[in-house]
Amino acid sequence: MKIAVAGTGYVGLVTGTCLAEAGHTVTCVDKDELKIAMLKKAQSPIYEPGLEEKIVLAQRANRLNFTLDYQKAYAQADVIIVGVATPENEDGSANLQALYTVCKQIADTIETPTLVVVKSTVPVGTNDKIANYFDRLLGNRKNLIEVASNPEFLSQGTALRDTLCAERIVIGTEGGYAEKILKTMYEPFGQPILAMNRRSAEMVKYASNDFLALKISFVNDIANLCEVVGADIEEVTRGMGTDSRIGSQFLSPGIGYGGSCFPKDTKALHWLAEEEGYTLRTIQATIDVNEKQRFKLIQAARKDISSFAGKKIAILGATFKPGTDDLREAPSIPNIRLLLNEGADVHIYDPVGMINLASIFGDAITYGDSVEAVLQDADACFIFTEWKEFKAMDLKSFQQMREARVYDGRNCFPLAAAKEAQILYYSIGRQKIGGHVFA
Ligand code: UDX
Repeated sequence: MKIAVAGTGYVGLVTGTCLAEAGHTVTCVDKDELKIAMLKKAQSPIYEPGLEEKIVLAQRANRLNFTLDYQKAYAQADVIIVGVATPENEDGSANLQALYTVCKQIADTIETPTLVVVKSTVPVGTNDKIANYFDRLLGNRKNLIEVASNPEFLSQGTALRDTLCAERIVIGTEGGYAEKILKTMYEPFGQPILAMNRRSAEMVKYASNDFLALKISFVNDIANLCEVVGADIEEVTRGMGTDSRIGSQFLSPGIGYGGSCFPKDTKALHWLAEEEGYTLRTIQATIDVNEKQRFKLIQAARKDISSFAGKKIAILGATFKPGTDDLREAPSIPNIRLLLNEGADVHIYDPVGMINLASIFGDAITYGDSVEAVLQDADACFIFTEWKEFKAMDLKSFQQMREARVYDGRNCFPLAAAKEAQILYYSIGRQKIGGHVFA
């Protein structure tokens, strides 16, 4: 099958590469000249483990091309997958400008029957609106285009596995032709395909992401209560997670969810519901808990440190989760800003996020090249991301600090290890260790 993919972000690039690996001929289109130039040389503009290797193999097999020339790519395609960004507007609604621009380009270009597949996350009803938009643009040629919704569920850092071994593929169609084509396109993947109407497919995406976000905010709420009543959240989630109706995934407490999806998708669904006159109270609570959760470490540190001014603060990890260089909506960012505003001397180390960090903070912070470099003589350490490297570190390293005060937003270490290392250790939803030692 000949497939064009509009947009070479996470969704477009990973989907296009996996479809090429499955045997289709794929052309990925982007308007960003730099990205296309890099991709032509098999260099991925995003950090995603294993992706470059797969791009190389698919290019060698002549099944994966990259181009700025959308006209040629769209004109030759049986299927056009749209994976452009739908960022958040000021009011929390989804910005669909890029999506409509691509649709206009498609309508101006195609001459043969083409299936347009929307993979971008869009508010419920958008696919119907796009179908109407195509009808208006094409007039008596409107039968040339069918529109289908096909949300993605890939996570950054495991995007290839999530695509190649997906638990389900959701397709939302309003006609037999679209369903047939999509089933043929996905046949090589051998994954269960759930067919439904377009609005339901759009809702599956939001409901899935928002449910996971709700699970995280729920566990963070319970973790906060654990701290107050003397329970241990790790033991509590172990007890909860073994109930298969609850499940053990997405029960890790922390300083809140970040990234390009959960913060945006919770707000977008809440906004959509409000527009329809309905208040999604569970999602409102999810968002509220997350906003507050982000500042738990600084709140805890204020009990031990009267002022951050002039203090050397070591930060381990900045990306919104491990396995990615992405800092979008990462809880670390507002925390670093707050520390800088209060006059702290911030030293940071993240295994892959340093380049992106530098583009946000410039020379306002110091970039260390190792855990040791940032810990040396620090007055406090904040952990914002649970990189493997941190979880595996020897806790004695914290003794290089001027004061071994560690505020861990991702519960990287067992409490027993923290006790043995004789550090002050605050983590989320657990007993604080060694709080009495320091002035
Ligand atoms: C998410 C969804 O998982 C994916 O299906 C969807 O397509 C896109 O959004 P992603 O944003 O890549 O993927 O990351 P994910 O692994 O879901 O984590 C999101 C945030 O939640 C991270 O900040 C992570 O640290 C946090 N999180 C996750 C927790 O705080 N606790 C958990 O138990 C799980």
